[in-house]
Amino acid sequence: QTIALVGAPTDIGAGHRGASMGPEALRVAMIGERLRRRGFDVTDRGNLHGPLNPWQPPTDGYRHLPEVAAWNQAVHEGIYGELSQGRLPIMLGGDHCLAIGSVSAVARHCREQGRKLRVLWLDAHTDFNTALGTPTGNIHGMPVACLCGNGPAELTGIGGHVPAVEPKVFRQIGIRSVDDPEKKLVREAGMDVFDMRHIDEVGMKRTMEEALAGIDADTHLHVSFDVDFLDPSIAPGVGTTVRGGPNYREAQLCMEMIADTGRLGSLDIVELNPAYDKRNATAKLAVDLVESLFGKSTLIR
Ligand code: ARG
Ligand code: MN
Ligand code: MN
Ligand code: MN
Repeated sequence: QTIALVGAPTDIGAGHRGASMGPEALRVAMIGERLRRRGFDVTDRGNLHGPLNPWQPPTDGYRHLPEVAAWNQAVHEGIYGELSQGRLPIMLGGDHCLAIGSVSAVARHCREQGRKLRVLWLDAHTDFNTALGTPTGNIHGMPVACLCGNGPAELTGIGGHVPAVEPKVFRQIGIRSVDDPEKKLVREAGMDVFDMRHIDEVGMKRTMEEALAGIDADTHLHVSFDVDFLDPSIAPGVGTTVRGGPNYREAQLCMEMIADTGRLGSLDIVELNPAYDKRNATAKLAVDLVESLFGKSTLIR
């Protein structure tokens, strides 16, 4: 199967500028070459296009809503096109608002193919905010809510099916920063959250066994990898660092256990911010972890 790299160079949904440089940083860290070296056929489809960041304050609880909608429409079409061609898309973000476009595209593909969908949301944040509860108006804090139908029509309607997905498709892993109104919504939605407290108590191994339980041959597995999932001591190159995240070995195990399912069908790499990075170290780490996600193993056998 061919892997398609799709760049979405924007920070339109974020509260810090710079995630727009993420796609190029991942290319400089040789994401394509590394996957090719692992035996995959990789095609770089270049970058999608959308409006520039006007860097305005929020209006009615949303910052840059028309521009966020335009970018997500482009991402939806780009990712849906790759899936329709039978390719495995990797969206090179860009901030996490873009998962509205990518996950809605994957959900549409799964509906058409009669496949089950599981989304692993690797993140420090649940990204389940709405205009009422958001402390910032930044839409990168809202994609999961929008995908579940709770958000502005410009975003919930992307892909033409509202809601794009049910909360039960998500397994959120690494969570350690949730706003109070957001917490209430997460609880009400009954979303499966494996927060850092859970990982501390039972370990990454059992956490991943739980998050991957029930995946079968009919399941399309989508991974939405927000780089702020990782502990800031190993991944400084993000705008919204939160201390107390998975360390290098825990993150590797997480990726390796996903790879072992053999069901990975699509991936987002988001929130990488080269303006905060140190000699592209976080991009290199992300590529290292993506190699594990695609089957690189430290096992002898
Ligand atoms: N909860 C905060 C907010 O809504 C932070 C969200 C951070 N999201 C992210 N994808 N980095 O503004
Ligand atoms: Mn397919
Ligand atoms: Mn996120
Ligand atoms: Mn995050």
